[in-house]
Amino acid sequence: MLTKLKVAQFRCFEAHEVCLEPGINLIVGPNARGKTSLLEAACVLLRLQSPRTSRLGEIIRHGQRGLLADGFFNGAHLQFYYSTERKKLALDSVEQRTATEYLRLARVVWFSNTDVQIIRDGGDTRRRFLDFVAMQVDPLYRSALRDYERAVRSRNILLKAPVPRWKEIQAFDEPLVAAGLRLIEARAALTTALRPLAQLAHNTISGAREKLDLEYSPNPPENFATALASARPEDTRLRQTTVGPHRDELVLSLSGRPATLGSEGQQRTLVLALRLAAARLLEAHFGTPPLLLLDDIFGELDGARRAALLEQLPKNAQQIITTTQREWLPAGLPAQVITLP
Ligand SMILES: Nc1ncnc2c1ncn2[C@@H]1O[C@H](COP(=O)(O)OP(=O)(O)OP(=O)(O)O)[C@@H](O)[C@H]1O
Ligand SMILES: [Mg+2]
Repeated sequence: MLTKLKVAQFRCFEAHEVCLEPGINLIVGPNARGKTSLLEAACVLLRLQSPRTSRLGEIIRHGQRGLLADGFFNGAHLQFYYSTERKKLALDSVEQRTATEYLRLARVVWFSNTDVQIIRDGGDTRRRFLDFVAMQVDPLYRSALRDYERAVRSRNILLKAPVPRWKEIQAFDEPLVAAGLRLIEARAALTTALRPLAQLAHNTISGAREKLDLEYSPNPPENFATALASARPEDTRLRQTTVGPHRDELVLSLSGRPATLGSEGQQRTLVLALRLAAARLLEAHFGTPPLLLLDDIFGELDGARRAALLEQLPKNAQQIITTTQREWLPAGLPAQVITLP
């Protein structure tokens, strides 16, 4: 569990420190006091990634050069410094050249009141949901994703040239396909593992009124190397790589209909089920539940769904929950309250 979390020059905080307990930690405060930022800091410290943005530069406090996140997880001291020029990682005061050992320590699942974007936004948001879980299940996934993204970027730069030089572009095809196939395989396996867990969680929260389904739809559907070769005219015309898992989809549906057609409440329940499935999967894989970060999600659920969700959260999981009002927390449920004045 995370026992201490300290930030400097992080979003609205010049410097701030909180001590955390096992079980439920409730961060209470009015709007714009930094509740979500503190949760984000826990995620950045433990996973080196923000659930809110893919550009870490955004979370450095305005006008400052770099941010610091520092904390203790299961007794290990984690330190992360990030500026646009450089980043530094330390584990028990030993600087780490790679993130591998560091990232082995902790798993995190993030629940947010903006999670319906997983249904409503473009495929990128759904791929990020899968990637965030996949990287925690398998440390090698992170390097495959990086290799893949690097190959796509390099290829796209070359495709932007007035007259694309295919000999040079082709040099990236092999690493692109190799890394891409690893992503496709891992995403397919992850979707298969998540499906029954999400359906179970969904049944419990929704009262089994409709059936959730998730289907991984890889791009291309078949042989990547062949599809990449056939896509050359299209790649030349659009000046970018048009096939590959950077265009994958995770198809979400409710009783056979696209999830986008579901009501507000149905969509909220669906994404809750996805997050719960991720938590269950990580718990089953590692034998201990992940740290749960819940950003402002209880306020807008009705009483029955709130109770069902609290019931569904992995037992013994440490939870950090933000809220503007603490009244919804059932009386008698023990929680440490941290107030941001
Ligand atoms: N890079 C940054 N530098 C300085 N301030 C920032 C930065 N990014 C965000 N902020 C500010 O930090 C403040 C806290 O934001 P945060 O989202 O953590 O608030 P919150 O307590 O979760 O609020 P709410 O209850 O509305 O969700 C906001 O005023 C926001 O504008
Ligand atoms: Mg917030």
